[in-house]
Amino acid sequence: MRTIIEPFRIKSVEPIRKTTRDERQKLLEAAGYNLFLIGSQDILIDLLTDSGTGAMSTEQWAAMMRGDESYAGSPSFERFRASVQSIFGFKHVIPTHQGRAAERILFTVMCKKGDVVPNNTHFDTTRANCEFSGAEALDLPIPEALEPPNPHPFKGNMDSARLAQTIERVGAKRIPLVMLTVTNNSWGGQPVSMANIREVKSICSRNRIPLYIDACRFAENCYFIKLRESGYSDKTPREIAREMFSYADGCTMSAKKDGLANIGGFLCTNDDAIAQQEKDLLILTEGFPTYGGLAGRDLEAIAVGLNEALEEDYLNYRIISTAYLGNHLAREGVPIVQPPGGHAIYIDAKAMLPHIPVLEFPGVALADELYLEAGIRSVEIGTLMFGKRDSDGTEHAAPMELVRLCIPRRVYTQSHVDYVVEAILEVWRRRESVRGLRLVYQAPFLRHFTARLEPVPSLARVIP
Ligand SMILES: Cc1ncc(COP(=O)(O)O)c(C=O)c1O
Repeated sequence: MRTIIEPFRIKSVEPIRKTTRDERQKLLEAAGYNLFLIGSQDILIDLLTDSGTGAMSTEQWAAMMRGDESYAGSPSFERFRASVQSIFGFKHVIPTHQGRAAERILFTVMCKKGDVVPNNTHFDTTRANCEFSGAEALDLPIPEALEPPNPHPFKGNMDSARLAQTIERVGAKRIPLVMLTVTNNSWGGQPVSMANIREVKSICSRNRIPLYIDACRFAENCYFIKLRESGYSDKTPREIAREMFSYADGCTMSAKKDGLANIGGFLCTNDDAIAQQEKDLLILTEGFPTYGGLAGRDLEAIAVGLNEALEEDYLNYRIISTAYLGNHLAREGVPIVQPPGGHAIYIDAKAMLPHIPVLEFPGVALADELYLEAGIRSVEIGTLMFGKRDSDGTEHAAPMELVRLCIPRRVYTQSHVDYVVEAILEVWRRRESVRGLRLVYQAPFLRHFTARLEPVPSLARVIP
């Protein structure tokens, strides 16, 4: 059969509500043109994120009933640790309430002012936590990663030549760790190849620098390796995962992605001394090391979810259904980051709206327009999220202006996706009417979550 079906049936449904265009216009104004500030009851299709928004399976719900809520020594933790270790293989497994808590603990223990942490690309919370420790978060993607139409199969790769030059320039002593984010969420949900992981590892080993993996979407990355890298087509995603993590000294994980859970995360390391410091810090803010800010039932859901995320039927549906959205848009000329990512499709807002200067946030303008058109929530990944404003008020643009359409796991069906395609094509047809925005409020870090904006008056650019 050629038809790809969702490899599940639906047992419990959650109604979604249509609003009128007039209502959405008012809601958008009240939210300062920031879709993070709109209530989810006023969203029809929510593609804001794939983080914690997935649907759990019957096995996960059943496992939750086994959750042991003891403060210390819960068997739920034992099951969680066994599941993590069987896939990731690290000696120490430290549960955290989500990925950023793992990042904060990792960077607090390993980094200090003046250090440099290279990554293929730090995601927003990773960058913020790294910089909060005083270290510099340095992105070293391959050049192809910043060329949206380029169909390179592993655009998540790190530029290993630049990594070697960076070590040479700043000295290994100032680089407490190197990170690889699988897949690269910032620039297209693109995978990292096993060859690149091996190469980065060998540079790290030569310089005695530990390699950590930001593992949020490890299963999707493994499936891309199976599909695209020679020598892996006969291996299972689990075998590929075991090899991938064998090159790393530790990892951070948000189980809200490929853990198929609604909350949770963990931090892993093979280093006893580092693990001890991390557990001490964990107790300060997250909780005792056998629950780390999570309920016993959450640990159970993650223990099952990690294994389900590696099932081939699921991964095949996941990768093909994301590509279905991307291919239907690209076929009509909508510029997207190619090839389609694992968890999301990224529209190139700079190419779609060339009449909006980057400092007027074309990505935010496009995301707002999709909401106005059809009640769809997406997110800008561009200058609002990654740009910077100097103390003298000068704005610096991000390398790309993207709108990410993130697909929650096991939540929407093909007809939902067809609706999204129709709405985007409608906006595509009248794209010249979309206007830019300007900032009226921003927080000192992670400004995109709470920023408030307003439309730039249409004549402002014509009359100097
Ligand atoms: C690549 C990457 N790293 C880290 C995180 C942080 O995870 P969490 O949201 O669980 O704190 C995210 C979340 O979106 C992510 O995509």
